Amino acid sequence: MSWLVTGGAGYIGAHVVRALADGGERVVVYDDLSTGSTDRVPDGVPLVVGSVLDRAALEDAIRDHAVTGVVHIAAKKQVGESVELPLHYYRENVTGLATLLEAMTSTGVGRLVFSSSAAVYGMPDVDLVTEDTPCLPMSPYGETKLIGEWLINAAARAHGIRAASLRYFNVAGAAAPELADSGVFNLIPMVFERLEAGDAPRVFGDDYATPDGTCVRDYIHVKDIASAHLAAARRLTDAPEGTSLILNIGRGEGSSVQEMVDRILKVTGRQDVAPHVTERRPGDPARVVASADRAHAELGWSAGHDLDDTIESAWQGWRHHHG
Ligand code: WQD
Repeated sequence: MSWLVTGGAGYIGAHVVRALADGGERVVVYDDLSTGSTDRVPDGVPLVVGSVLDRAALEDAIRDHAVTGVVHIAAKKQVGESVELPLHYYRENVTGLATLLEAMTSTGVGRLVFSSSAAVYGMPDVDLVTEDTPCLPMSPYGETKLIGEWLINAAARAHGIRAASLRYFNVAGAAAPELADSGVFNLIPMVFERLEAGDAPRVFGDDYATPDGTCVRDYIHVKDIASAHLAAARRLTDAPEGTSLILNIGRGEGSSVQEMVDRILKVTGRQDVAPHVTERRPGDPARVVASADRAHAELGWSAGHDLDDTIESAWQGWRHHHG
């Protein structure tokens, strides 16, 4: 197989590219470099600079590189920004995917791994979220991911595409410092930023109905996210036409914000610092933890990295980008 990885020059994409290449797959990166960087593309992997809104450029890339499958990671991913710029998010994430599916069908490419998100569930009121938990996204971002899954299911039925939509939970960490996420949009980098600025890390609310009152999430190492893509790509290679899998990609273990901040302070050697509890952040669900059973059953995959590994590698990455 020869896989086109859209968004392959970004944080998650760069890890997926390495996992596929290390797994013996041929890989081509397709990225508009709006947030991705050429530095993340490994030597020997071709890079095509282009937009997922450009059908002709996608078709050219597919033909030029004899592509037989696509891993679609290119997307806008900031929840708050999606509330401010919903049209932009729908265009990039939904129209971008529709354009890609058109390019795939016109060129006869029949396999797709799609980056979805736990954001499709919204505020799930369950201990462990399964793929059958109702989807009620709370943001335009989450809506675009759910609509993307619907679009893929429809294309699988109509055009025989074999697909896997991977619903990532809270992704963090890095395989190497230079591959780390340089953005500061999630808990772990936000704590690093506060520490570096000499400010106390913030805990957004401690009056949730959870054991310590702070929100619980399922944090997963980006290397595990990457290995799930390799497993999904292989699963699709021999799958029957029209196969369309929806899979949670998490560890199946919850960690509270309080626990995470304590671990981050330990890893960074800043146990002298006391976190500051602030108001709740609007729209935060109390608990979002995956059941990863279906991914294990379908792919034979499960996460192997623990939280300290995740936080330690994120810290090395932070020092690389911001140190
Ligand atoms: C985690 C917890 C915060 C910063 C988002 C998207 C989700 C996915 C991952 C893309 C929450 C708390 C945070 C801080 C805090 N993205 N927090 N102090 O909101 O679970 O998920 O990113 O697919 O779709 O919704 O992640 O890292 O922002 O927050 O207390 O300084 O940490 O309130 O409970 P979230 P997060």
